[in-house]
This record gives sequence, C-alpha cells and structure tokens, in this order.
Amino acid sequence: MLAPLMVAAGGAAAQDADAGAKVFNKCKACHTVGEGAKHRVGPELNALFGRVAGTAEGYKYSPVMTKAGADGLVWDDESLHAFLAAPRSFMKGTKMAFAGLKKQDEIDNLLAYLRNYSSEAAAPQVEEAKPEQKSEAPAPASEPEKKAETAAAAPAPETTAQGTHGVLHLGRPATEAEVAAWDIDVRPDGLGLPEGRGTVTDGEALYSEQCAACHGDFGEAIGRWPVLAGGQDTLTNDRPVKTIGSYWPYLSTVYDYIRRTMPFGNARSLSDDDVYALTAYVLYLNDVVTDEDFELSRETFLSVDMPNAGGFIDDDRMSEPHYANKADPCMKDCKPGKAEITMHAAVLDVTPEGEDGADGAPSIE
Ligand code: HEC
Ligand code: HEC
Repeated sequence: MLAPLMVAAGGAAAQDADAGAKVFNKCKACHTVGEGAKHRVGPELNALFGRVAGTAEGYKYSPVMTKAGADGLVWDDESLHAFLAAPRSFMKGTKMAFAGLKKQDEIDNLLAYLRNYSSEAAAPQVEEAKPEQKSEAPAPASEPEKKAETAAAAPAPETTAQGTHGVLHLGRPATEAEVAAWDIDVRPDGLGLPEGRGTVTDGEALYSEQCAACHGDFGEAIGRWPVLAGGQDTLTNDRPVKTIGSYWPYLSTVYDYIRRTMPFGNARSLSDDDVYALTAYVLYLNDVVTDEDFELSRETFLSVDMPNAGGFIDDDRMSEPHYANKADPCMKDCKPGKAEITMHAAVLDVTPEGEDGADGAPSIE
C-alpha cells in the first residue's frame, strides 16, 4: 500500500520551481511572467493554468492558436507538456518559433515555476475574455501576404492547365498574386517601396513591444542578440561594431530586412506602415534622424543620409598593380611534365565511414 504513495511523493519532489525559473530563461526572449508582465513576442504567461488557448487580452495570436482555443484547448499540465515538448508539431502553424524542451523534468520544473503565477481567480477571467476574443478577427496580414493566402486557398485559374506548362509539361505559371507576394525587394534608389508612412514615435511603441525583448530598449541588444545601434568610429578597430548607423550604406536594406524577416520567428507579420515606423525608429536610435516627429515614407525616404554610405567603393582591384600587371591566368596544361597520384582519400582516412554520424558529423536533432 505504501509503494504507490512513495512514487507519487517522489514525482512531486522532482518538480522544482527554482530549477524551473532557470528553464524559463529559454522563454524570456519572447515571454514575461509575474508582476507587471506584458505581451512581448509571445503573450504574457500569468494565470496560464486554466487559460483557454489564445485568449490573453490584447495579444494577436496566430489563427491556429485562436482556433485551438475556440475548439476547446485549455492550458493544463497535460496540454502544456505536449505543447512545450514540440510546439510546432503539437500545433501546426503556431507562430511560436521555439524548438521545444527535450527533457521531461525540465518541463516539470518549468510548469512548477509557472504555476506560481497562476492564481485561483484565473478561471472566471478566462470566461470573460473568451467571447471578446472570438469576435476579433485574426491579426491583419500585410497586403501581399493576404494575396498569397488567397492564392493558396482558392485554386488558381490556371489549375486546369496544371502539368501542361513549358517544355517539360510540369507546373503552371505563377499567378499575379503569387508574384506580388514574392516581389518585395526595394532598391537603394527607392524603387519598389510600398505606399505608406510611419513616424519615429509610432516606431518607438512598436519597437518596445516587438523588438526590445531581443535588441534592447536602445538597440544595445539583450544577451547575444544583434546590436542595432551605436558602433560609430569603430570600423577600423580590431573588433568593429557594424550597425545600421556605423556600417550599412543603404536605407533600403534596413527597410527590406525588417519587412522580410522581423520580428524573428514572426516574419512578415508587420504592415508596410509598421515597417516605415520601425525603420524611422532604428534611424533615431542611431542618431541618423533626431526629430521624434520625423515621418518616413516613400516620399521622404531619399532624404535620409546613411552615415557610412561613402565608406564603400566599387570593386576596382583590376586596376591595382597586383592584378593589372598579371598575365592571363593559365587554364590548360599548366603543370609541366606528367601529373602523378600521390595518395588516395580512403587511405588518408578523410572519408567518414560510420553510420548515423557515429564516425562523421554528430547527428542533429
Ligand atoms: C521565439 C519566441 C518564443 C519563445 C522562445 C517561446 N515562445 Fe511561447 N509563444 C510565442 C508566440 C509568438 C506565441 C503565440 C503563438 C500563437 O499564437 O500561435 C506563444 C505562445 C505560447 C503559449 C500559449 C499561450 C496562450 O495564451 O495561449 C504558451 C503556453 C507558451 N507560449 C509558453 C512558452 C514557454 C513556457 C516557453 C519557454 C520554454 C516559450 N513559450 C518560448 C513565442 C515564443
Ligand atoms: C526573438 C528575438 C528577436 C526579435 C523579437 C527581433 N529580432 Fe531582429 N534580429 C534577431 C536576430 C537573431 C537577428 C540576426 C539574424 C541573422 O543574422 O540571421 C536579427 C537581426 C535584425 C536586424 C539586422 C541587424 C544587423 O545588423 O544585421 C534588424 C535591422 C532587426 N533585427 C530589426 C528588428 C526589428 C525592427 C524587430 C521588431 C519588429 C526585431 N528585429 C525583433 C532577433 C530578433
């Protein structure tokens, strides 16, 4: 009669909230918990136990998370175990860009830690939040993305021609909507910029909510995430700090980079206006613009001077003596005499032999 009890006690003791606090460091890039917790890249995690998935007020979830909640998913020990072990296989399409926790006891400890922030009052709060959330439309996708989704959902008009295209009779021509969704590059002279605008002040609000968790409030970076500001006058140092202010020659690259890739793990979630505002704010962090009312738009884009724009030169090495004086390179029969094989790779033992990476590269999970 004692044995099962002891097992249970052992199991409970294995849950260590202090150890869980350390595990939570892996979540901190995106989540906060405790007093004053705010939504970052991910929703705040107070009162998580008993929360209907996708219902923290004021946070824009992915459509799949919202749907999972509407379909009855409630966060408890069991569902959190499954989700945190492998977020993207548990919920295909979630925007939580996290690989998952491999060790069972890590999850146990983490949940013990998070449970400390789940009050008994959580359940009724959730009941109120749910209908509100339901009526809310999923996060607005940016224009080209929307088109791409439509293109993916509705069969393209060319579908009937599928398999009959081109010399190889494969595929179909891309639809206009698909091309528009992919064609988002911007040239240094501003060609390709979308309509839109945003001020430094607009950008500051977006930045502190969606970027500061990794890049720091002033672009100084948290931990080892990339630095976005500073570094002026360091380019000739042994360890130059290359930032948008100190190094990048073109503003179009900044716009394109943010629009195409950020926030990390949730790429293409920003509207064109958001990207203008964030680009303006990053310029402000680098003292490239100093007026908080400065508005970046297609119209004002070319008025910005990037500090290091003049720091790049065309590749002129062919005019350097070292290259210019060289004769044409030898392309044929260059070694005088007969070529000779001196060793075989198998003998040299440079070819991995073992299976499953036993001998070669370590296997990657
Ligand atoms: C790279 C950013 C990132 C990291 C790291 C991350 N999350 Fe998330 N998390 C998100 C995002 C974004 C969402 C919203 C997902 C959606 O709507 O599909 C989310 C959603 C969640 C949810 C659902 C909450 C709700 O209200 O429905 C839980 C629970 C959660 N995360 C826990 C964790 C824990 C615990 C960790 C650390 C082990 C972690 N996350 C690590 C970004 C992250
Ligand atoms: C979860 C962490 C995270 C968040 C949140 C995040 N970033 Fe990033 N950011 C990164 C990482 C990682 C890189 C580098 C990616 C690479 O080099 O492949 C990066 C690179 C950048 C760069 C290029 C920096 C350089 O000098 O190479 C810019 C600009 C940038 N991010 C802007 C933003 C903006 C604006 C936001 C908010 C909308 C944002 N980031 C949110 C992690 C993050």
